[in-house]
Amino acid sequence: MKIFATYNIKGGVGKTTTAVNLSYLAAREGYRVLLWDLDAQGAASFLFRIRPRVKGGGKALIRGTRSIDGAIKATDFDRLDLLPADFTYRNLDLVLDAAKKPARRLGSLLAPLRAEYDVVFLDCPPGITLLSESVLQAADTLLVPLIPTTLSVRTLDQLTEFIAGLNGHRPAILAFFSMIDRRKRLHKEISGQLPEQRADVAATMIPAVSLIEQMSVQRAPVTAFAPRSAAARRYAELWAEARERAGLPTRSPTTPGDQ
Ligand SMILES: Nc1ncnc2c1ncn2[C@@H]1O[C@H](COP(=O)(O)OP(=O)(O)OP(=O)(O)O)[C@@H](O)[C@H]1O
Ligand SMILES: [Mg+2]
Repeated sequence: MKIFATYNIKGGVGKTTTAVNLSYLAAREGYRVLLWDLDAQGAASFLFRIRPRVKGGGKALIRGTRSIDGAIKATDFDRLDLLPADFTYRNLDLVLDAAKKPARRLGSLLAPLRAEYDVVFLDCPPGITLLSESVLQAADTLLVPLIPTTLSVRTLDQLTEFIAGLNGHRPAILAFFSMIDRRKRLHKEISGQLPEQRADVAATMIPAVSLIEQMSVQRAPVTAFAPRSAAARRYAELWAEARERAGLPTRSPTTPGDQ
């Protein structure tokens, strides 16, 4: 089982959009996939048409008084399950703080799911909190969407430094440019240089296009409702890079719908 987390200290950079599309693509490829919507806002749950509700709330899950298995819902797509958000997740930091070894907690909660899933995605809220620390400890690979500004390199450096300072497990980083507008000179300059200079920046860039915004109207991944669009192809390329970075063996593609 490989664990990916979409993470950035910044909000609104494309974390949820990425988690939703990549989890769909992984499932379509034949992996058994779980997406855990860790954000109290519940955007990933909304996009998969699942009510953001967990019985007993985040506290029961983190404390282990309710099983994770019991809270998991099937999505409309084969092999793709979702652990929904809940409004109580806004207090996950406090719940974690009260737990033993809080930074290890998510990892140990997910460990028993190894037999059921090949791939887990954690969709994180923005910020750098105890929850983020627990995500960093649990994840094999961090997918970090970067908005192309002069500060984006600095943000990535800060994250790399923070991870280097962690005790114990350190996830691999795969950063990528998100919401690229090729008409903007600054976007072109920044996104043109960095992937060549740094091994932790993906070659794939996600363009800023209104089709991606349509996901919240369609309530489905763009890779599902417009699979031949340029946006969907970029996400497929990003997934291929992420899969390779994590060392996941490739699966022969299956048609959506067959099992
Ligand atoms: N490549 C893109 N082109 C155009 N719009 C996009 C793109 N990626 C994301 N968006 C839109 O930008 C908004 C923020 O995206 P998203 O929810 O994925 O970001 P996030 O990092 O998860 O935000 P938050 O920090 O609030 O969780 C959404 O309305 C989404 O539809
Ligand atoms: Mg989000």
